[in-house]
Amino acid sequence: MDLFEYQARDMFEKHGVPVLAGKTAETPEQARAAAEEIGARSGGVTVVKAQVKTGGRGKAGGVKVARSADEAEQHAQQILGMDIKGHTVHTVMIAQGAKIAEEYYFSLLLDRANRTYLAMCSKEGGMEIEQLAVERPEALARIAVDPQVGIDEAKAKEIVDAAGFDAQTGASIAPVLQKLWDVYREEDATLVEVNPLVKTEDGEVVALDGKVTLDDNASFRQPDHKALVDERTEDPLEAKAKAMHLNYVKLDGNVGIIGNGAGLVMSTLDVVAYAGQDHTGGASKPANFLDIGGGASAEVMANGLDVILGDEQVRAVFVNVFGGITACDAVANGIVGALKTLGDQATKPLVVRLDGNNVVEGRRILEEFNHPLVTVEETMDGAARKAAELAAK
Ligand SMILES: Nc1ncnc2c1ncn2[C@@H]1O[C@H](COP(=O)(O)OP(=O)(O)OP(=O)(O)O)[C@@H](O)[C@H]1O
Ligand SMILES: [Mg+2]
Repeated sequence: MDLFEYQARDMFEKHGVPVLAGKTAETPEQARAAAEEIGARSGGVTVVKAQVKTGGRGKAGGVKVARSADEAEQHAQQILGMDIKGHTVHTVMIAQGAKIAEEYYFSLLLDRANRTYLAMCSKEGGMEIEQLAVERPEALARIAVDPQVGIDEAKAKEIVDAAGFDAQTGASIAPVLQKLWDVYREEDATLVEVNPLVKTEDGEVVALDGKVTLDDNASFRQPDHKALVDERTEDPLEAKAKAMHLNYVKLDGNVGIIGNGAGLVMSTLDVVAYAGQDHTGGASKPANFLDIGGGASAEVMANGLDVILGDEQVRAVFVNVFGGITACDAVANGIVGALKTLGDQATKPLVVRLDGNNVVEGRRILEEFNHPLVTVEETMDGAARKAAELAAK
């Protein structure tokens, strides 16, 4: 789960990372009140910041300096309701205005390829870091962080040295990096990014912007994180799937996909994408990822179909199951049960490819069921083509 900037700010504060005062507002009036309160600490100057879970807010006009509470109210009026890369702004944060001397970059992330964590740090923050990484990679220090040790004093020094900070600045940043490690580790994050990390004219180091991604797999041991979920920004289908404990990711196409095993579902996405290119001129694409896992009961199949059929973009569904532990007859019974449960609600064609454990019996069950919406195909490619064609009709 990605956090909003204000949530990251609060989390930083909790772990002792220096941040500026900030308060959220959902109406221009609330923004004015917050600016009156917060501006009192910074000569009336505040920054009105759109709270959306995407980058590039500043460029889109979602970050604006206000010199008075009046101005903060006007900015909030403008920013609230704005669309930034498909994200509607429901909330702004009124942040204390900082007198920035320098802007730096710091992030901590998971380095899957090397099975470790990675710290990235640069003296040149504020701008698009992706651009810096491509154009002048030498300006972005990359230091591996051992999960067992984390960022201790020595590691923090290694990072600031690699980024090329002078001794004095380095010494003021290093302790902040150690605290950001505490956030990363104790909150089970997979990403903590501060862009910019600034030095103010008074020489203070402050995290001005924060991006945090939490590892949902650790949510069982992070009961506080539940309160951070914002239903308005969750995809309704993903929320429904989550409530049913399904492994579902919404995508942008029209072919619904159900399979057993993450690897099989990933390859099914590829095969459908290729079939869509080859046979429908790109009109058909995968609409989702849905892995029903092993031991797919009729109930799990019904839940999966329920979610996928609830997606208005879906025009056809491809059920791709390779029977291993799960026997194909159980899957076939699952489909039959699901279609019986759904009754008239099932209106979209289903292409089913079964193979592996007990496939003959599985196919026989579907043939006997003889449902007008169900087509059984023998091969994965054939089924992908059929589903793509049906979706493009
Ligand atoms: N509290 C503040 N006081 C003064 N200047 C600020 C403050 N917050 C942000 N800024 C300025 O605005 C710039 C952009 O702000 P910020 O990093 O929060 O948004 P962004 O980078 O556009 O958004 P994103 O990180 O989502 O891409 C900063 O680099 C900084 O120069
Ligand atoms: Mg930023």
